[in-house]
Amino acid sequence: MKDPKIIIALDYPSAAPAHALAERLQPSLCRLKVGKELFTASGPALLEQLMRRGFEVFLDLKFHDIPNTAAQACKAAASLGVWMVNVHALGGRKMLEASREAIAGSTRKPKLIAVTLLTSMAQEDLSDIGINVTPAEMVLRLATLARDSGLDGVVCSAQEAALLRKHCGNAFCLVTPGIRPEHASLNDQSRVMTPQAALQAGSSYLVIGRPVTQAADPLQALLDICKDIGVQE
Ligand code: C5P
Repeated sequence: MKDPKIIIALDYPSAAPAHALAERLQPSLCRLKVGKELFTASGPALLEQLMRRGFEVFLDLKFHDIPNTAAQACKAAASLGVWMVNVHALGGRKMLEASREAIAGSTRKPKLIAVTLLTSMAQEDLSDIGINVTPAEMVLRLATLARDSGLDGVVCSAQEAALLRKHCGNAFCLVTPGIRPEHASLNDQSRVMTPQAALQAGSSYLVIGRPVTQAADPLQALLDICKDIGVQE
């Protein structure tokens, strides 16, 4: 079976534009990411419809709660049949282990990954909440915790991929947003990497939103990226 490296972020307020885009893309070339906005608006029915179209779905709800609650949320996500689900590593070892155990017996076990540190958090934001290490140290620490708790991987910036690949091993899954093909608009992203560079740095999956979702021809934009990373249709 194909294992497309590209995950298209469906950052939409409702189901209609998400379906309109899905209709123009191909499940053999990409997976789809549904986050808090779209899932809150459209719920499990949308996931079912996207999966019926043949797409695998990353449910990006970043669960962060007491161990039992986070674990049960992961179990509920697994029962929806999603391919990937995530939690915050800041929830701690007990929460990470409970989440992993909760989905272990699922018929279709999703990949369980952790968010390390939100990239919106800078040094002063860490100081504000009483954390006195650098963001880079924090990311490494949380990624190591996720790996030691038996999770499949983390979401991280492509800039961190090489370091995390070295520390966390080849089997660890690194999911990287902030990807921009050469010449694409940066939008509001600042530290970006091209798809090829991110894969070379050790990224396992590339989360790409606007360069595809806002393209005049989204399928062509996706095909161009596939060509850049050496994937044939
Ligand atoms: O449109 P763009 O390619 O910038 O979309 C990137 C996607 O990745 C969005 O869904 C965004 O929320 C998500 N993301 C990110 N940076 C992170 C974590 C998630 O851009 N650190």
